[in-house]
Amino acid sequence: MTDRTTLTTTAGAPVPDNQNSWTAGSRGPVLLQDYQLIEKLAHQNRERIPERVVHAKGWGAYGTLTITGDISKYTKAKVFQPGTQTPMLARFSTVAGEQGASDTERDVRGFALKFYTSEGNWDLVGNNTPVFFVRDAYKFPDFIHTQKRHPKTNLRSPTAMWDFWSLSPESLHQVTILMSDRGLPVDPTRMNGYGSHTFSFWNDAGERYWVKFHFKTRQGHKFFTNEEADQVTAKTREHYQEQLFGKIEKGEFPSWTVQVQIMPELDAGKTSYNPFDLTKVWPHAEYPPIDVGVLELNRNPENYFAEIEQAAFSPSNIVPGIGYSPDKMLQARVFSYADAHRYRLGTHYESIPVNQPRVPVHHYHRDGQMNVYGGLKTGNPNAYYEPNSVNGPFEDKSAQEPPLRIHGDADRYNHRDGNDDYGQVRALFNLFDEGEKKRLFANIAAAMSGIPEEIYERQMVHFGRVHPDYEAGVRAASRVLEGREPAISVTSETPQQAAE
Ligand code: NDP
Ligand code: HEM
Repeated sequence: MTDRTTLTTTAGAPVPDNQNSWTAGSRGPVLLQDYQLIEKLAHQNRERIPERVVHAKGWGAYGTLTITGDISKYTKAKVFQPGTQTPMLARFSTVAGEQGASDTERDVRGFALKFYTSEGNWDLVGNNTPVFFVRDAYKFPDFIHTQKRHPKTNLRSPTAMWDFWSLSPESLHQVTILMSDRGLPVDPTRMNGYGSHTFSFWNDAGERYWVKFHFKTRQGHKFFTNEEADQVTAKTREHYQEQLFGKIEKGEFPSWTVQVQIMPELDAGKTSYNPFDLTKVWPHAEYPPIDVGVLELNRNPENYFAEIEQAAFSPSNIVPGIGYSPDKMLQARVFSYADAHRYRLGTHYESIPVNQPRVPVHHYHRDGQMNVYGGLKTGNPNAYYEPNSVNGPFEDKSAQEPPLRIHGDADRYNHRDGNDDYGQVRALFNLFDEGEKKRLFANIAAAMSGIPEEIYERQMVHFGRVHPDYEAGVRAASRVLEGREPAISVTSETPQQAAE
């Protein structure tokens, strides 16, 4: 007899038989009182929860943030004090594909981070790009609809994508990055992460600074061409999972250099661009990145569903010393994520172990479905309302951020008025070497293949406004695709790699 653990029911009683259902006679039928069979089937019917409405396919791991620089004059956040080490969770993702999508599709990658700080959870829910497709949250659901399946054909629709993009010139910066090499990294360790939005830092003196967060890969950028990615997908749809999980299992821990760009509060009125516009970067020459520390991933989750699928990242999770900014996209996200979590995971999603802060939690929320923390979170059975005279948890004014200076009349302002949607895209285009440009043109031509002429021409006007070479390059690549010109050679090797 081997010493084996006894199988029990969920109520703890030993299970006498897990092979044969309880039947009337050896040939059946099954008795209604075979509750364990019913329980097993019913439980299985509830194994799936709604997938994330965006960023459904993802890969995650735990790690550490170590602060090596000193930016304490900008922020009182304990997570940024010199020498501080903070445990954290990362989840990378694609945006449009469903849970079963291939990992190696051209798409923006999510770069979501949860820091379990000594002052509560701080989540930075960014992407591998420093900008975004739209600058007003009103347009986010419309944009996402163009990335998802057509209601009738149930197929992805390039026509919808380019129709929307060509009518939304603010998307051009992100579209250019998406169609460039960085739109298809070989795995999550070979890409940068960006907080993308402008956030704020505030210090003990109550001074506010605007801040952007950057995570620079220490493994180096590496990407697939579309053709290479197709070959990978033909063999496996789980390439990113295999790479991230495999590397960490082997002890090859990926890391990123953490940097911030800092803008004094009053500079915001002086820049030629709106520093709170999510379709813009802050040029490095104006606001140089400052090294702050290192992010390392070094532990795989034990259970994917419990720890990665149930992870709830939200821009609403901030800590003293870190604040929002007037970026209107950011405000919408502050609402949207926790709302998604209540729907996807339930009212008490923050009690799920992966989401639990690593500090004591005291609040006056009560009851509700799946309240698994038991009793009250106030530590006192009589403290179930506030204010009270029974010494229940009380607010801490030191966590109050300085006033946000805003002005202006309430209105629906046209976000396109006075906005240059082309200058920063031109700066990016000019950074690309000849190989990068060729691949950009080829990727765009492939993505536009088959869309109506009118939409194609509308988009060409935008490329032309960035640079005549941009428009000419895409037109030439389209002609190649249609077989009207000989093919150009496209490889994923940079000139340096080719020389090695
Ligand atoms: P800089 O030359 O000072 O900065 C260039 C930045 O662009 C670096 O962060 C670099 O990232 C990144 N970059 C370099 N090559 C590529 C590439 N082939 N594809 C995508 N990104 C690349 O100039 P600016 O700060 O004035 O920015 C110029 C343009 O660079 C911007 O308009 C924007 O499109 C892009 N960019 C700017 C960033 C910023 O925060 N200022 C961040 C990322 C991109 P890395 O060091 O990782 O190679
Ligand atoms: C996921 C909304 C813009 C990055 C999500 C989810 C929602 C959402 C509802 C699913 C959350 C969940 O179920 O857990 C929005 C809205 C936006 C917006 C309303 C604009 C108004 C952005 C931007 C970025 C971003 C600008 C990056 C800079 C992500 C990431 C995830 C995500 C990384 C996946 C998080 C994870 O790994 O769990 N978004 N989003 N989103 N979003 Fe956004």
